Amino acid sequence: MKITKICCIGAGYVGGPTMAVIAQKCPHIQVTVVDLNEERIAAWNDKDLNNIPIYEPGLDAIVSEARDRNLFFSTEVDKAIDEAQIIFISVNTPTKTYGKGKGMAADLKFIELCARQIARVAKDNKIVVEKSTLPVRTAEAIKSILDNTGNGVQFQILSNPEFLAEGTAVQDLLNPDRILIGGDTTFEGQKAIQSLVDVYSNWVNADKILTTNVWSSELSKLTANAFLAQRISSINAMSELCEKTGADINEVAKAIGMDSRIGSKFLKASVGFGGSCFQKDILNLVYIAKSYGLNEVADYWEQVIIMNDHQKRRFSSKIVQTLYNTVSDKKITFLGWAFKKDTNDTRESAAIYVANDLINEHAKIAVYDPKVSSKKVLDDLNYLETRSIENNANSITSHLDPYEACQNAHAIAILTEWDEFKLYDWQKIYDSMQKPAFIFDGRNVLNGIELTEIGFIYKGIGS
Ligand code: NAI
Repeated sequence: MKITKICCIGAGYVGGPTMAVIAQKCPHIQVTVVDLNEERIAAWNDKDLNNIPIYEPGLDAIVSEARDRNLFFSTEVDKAIDEAQIIFISVNTPTKTYGKGKGMAADLKFIELCARQIARVAKDNKIVVEKSTLPVRTAEAIKSILDNTGNGVQFQILSNPEFLAEGTAVQDLLNPDRILIGGDTTFEGQKAIQSLVDVYSNWVNADKILTTNVWSSELSKLTANAFLAQRISSINAMSELCEKTGADINEVAKAIGMDSRIGSKFLKASVGFGGSCFQKDILNLVYIAKSYGLNEVADYWEQVIIMNDHQKRRFSSKIVQTLYNTVSDKKITFLGWAFKKDTNDTRESAAIYVANDLINEHAKIAVYDPKVSSKKVLDDLNYLETRSIENNANSITSHLDPYEACQNAHAIAILTEWDEFKLYDWQKIYDSMQKPAFIFDGRNVLNGIELTEIGFIYKGIGS
């Protein structure tokens, strides 16, 4: 089938950038991204590209090129479904917060709503693509809903998980390590796979497009995230041992990373991973394993999360201990709130949990992040429901200027690895702080030797 119209349900961190790149690379295909969230769609359509809802380096230029040419953002979900030959589902799949599987399983209610809406609206054959990260065998449920509530038209379900990393989404989409497409082994299934392969072939080499059965594709995404997160927890586990033994985690990481069987990526010790995916996907994996009675498999992967929680808690405890066992009424400045650099996404950011711990100890937190608003910081903290909204508002402030944020602080904690932190006038910051002036570098990005020469007491992770 020659594809001329694509629709994507969900204009978030995945749907927005992914569809922008497809539209840029396939000018002959009309791409419509739809969302229920009117504010988000309005922001995607904002004439001022600084206001598009997702910050990713290079994204504004791509949106600017394709928007209103063959890339459209809309709240008219039915219309977009009706017109499209391929429908991507890219809605959120958070961890369940209620009922069976609470705190572990993926909440598939948004996926099911999409499936029911597609079934209701579709009047001709459609290819439905799971772009969201889903538990293995979700395609079965989607297929059942589509076939049982639809208008008698044919649906092919493909799994096409997204492997982009926030902060480098555009580069990852333009030059993906691989594109994974899972589909039915039937003739119709293979035809549907080919239609999607043809879309990606506009800019991705054939040898990077991998086709599998649906279940392998669904499970590969969970597996990839589990392996990535596992490396972070592994290096973080060693960082604690380094701190006890005089070894330096940066040196250890370099030494093991030069082994080509291990490789050097994802070996950076830190305050712990955040982001909307790693934790939720591993919890989901653990839940699936348990549901099949595979308790050893479940326990093995759960340890990755346990280690990550420990690393976050260990960081806040270290701050309290080092500041003479009390941070009550002390100003502690957080440089960074986003879960990683080059994104405005704060979901599950370690900063939120570290701030929460320190506020429990009555610290006053000042935050500077180049891309995160003060409202977001407060919303993130309120979401934990640890204390009243008023109490949170009295305990945390956000600043637009990093030097102002650091003034009179007892300590600075680096929570995100933004490049600009390396370029600051650290002497000026030191002069404006309470003494002794502490830096807790939760990302090991600053030069500890230089900072120590200025007079700071510098504490990195794992050394
Ligand atoms: P997001 O929360 O940024 O975006 C999801 C969007 O879907 C929201 O704007 C929401 O309003 C919309 N939505 C929900 N239900 C809808 C419905 N019935 N009709 C229309 N719109 C609806 O989520 P994000 O981060 O884009 O993630 C989407 C999926 O992609 C998740 O399954 C996630 O695990 C996966 N993923 C995320 C990555 C990331 O880096 N954020 C990377 C790879 C996969």
